[in-house]
Amino acid sequence: MAYVQPIVSSDAVFKDDIFKGKVLFCTGGGSGICKSMTEAVMRHGADAVIVGRKLERLTQTAEELSRATGRTCLPAQADVRHPKQIQEAVAKTIEKFGRIDFVICGAAGNFLAPISGLSENGFKTVIEIDTLGTYNTIKATLPHVRASKGSYIHVSATLHYRGTPYQVHVSAAKAAVDATSAVLAVEEGPHGVRSNVIAPGPIAGTEGADRLTPKEANGSMGPMPAGRWGDVKDIANATIFLFSDAASFISGQVIAVDGASEHLRPTQLPYPQSVLDPSSMTKLIKARM
Ligand code: COA
Repeated sequence: MAYVQPIVSSDAVFKDDIFKGKVLFCTGGGSGICKSMTEAVMRHGADAVIVGRKLERLTQTAEELSRATGRTCLPAQADVRHPKQIQEAVAKTIEKFGRIDFVICGAAGNFLAPISGLSENGFKTVIEIDTLGTYNTIKATLPHVRASKGSYIHVSATLHYRGTPYQVHVSAAKAAVDATSAVLAVEEGPHGVRSNVIAPGPIAGTEGADRLTPKEANGSMGPMPAGRWGDVKDIANATIFLFSDAASFISGQVIAVDGASEHLRPTQLPYPQSVLDPSSMTKLIKARM
């Protein structure tokens, strides 16, 4: 029988208080992977501000994370596409906590659409959320991250390493995020700032995986060398490590957290049927087309 890699909680590996006195600023922290990353950083001593468009969900998550970790989590409503709104969220963070040590650029948008069926505005929207949103977040936080000699993690993807059908918008946006992180690492390294990218593979139970897995795949994303799907805890553990001093010589890197699945990833949609007849996909795709 194949060996299945266990899911491990960060508490079992890292000291409780390694982030004591630190402050995290996380875009997209209201749900999914970024919520789990925030919780893990808080469990190891940090306070946090989570940023997103939906205030009700943010507030609920912030209360939940504060209760679960004994630290303080504040919601800040902002759309990463608007620099002024992100600047206001940063100002709120500084007013409350006086510093920012860690930044997670995680706000993202995604849906399945072929180039032939994706409007110019649809392409632009995802570039604006993922790429410009990342840049706006970096610009607004950088003076504070420099002051604390802190660290960035950008949440990217693995799908742009190859030509993934129906993912042109996200592929272009995430490639730009990876490139932005590398330049940030090089320019800001001499100021004591690090920047890395986490590229999650298929992570079970997230909105992204749910939207991107066609119904026909029945939850499968192809062969899994680790014997299982990823868990949000796997991304959280990588986050703890990359923000910790143990990673002080790791910067400018893109780290896939995917159990090696990218090496074997098939196209998720039937090929070439999905590109020859996009209309046949509507019944398979959960997201709206
Ligand atoms: N297929 C094709 N085009 C789509 C689409 C889909 N499933 N969803 C949105 N678009 C297009 C819209 O048609 C519109 O273009 P148009 O003006 O030419 O018609 C453009 O994208 C903007 O859409 P809109 O819904 O007005 O943008 P928004 O700013 O409110 O939201 C998203 C954009 C990406 C956040 C939205 O599609 C969404 O809510 N996605 C799901 C949530 C998500 O992505 N979570 C992250 C998972 S990783």
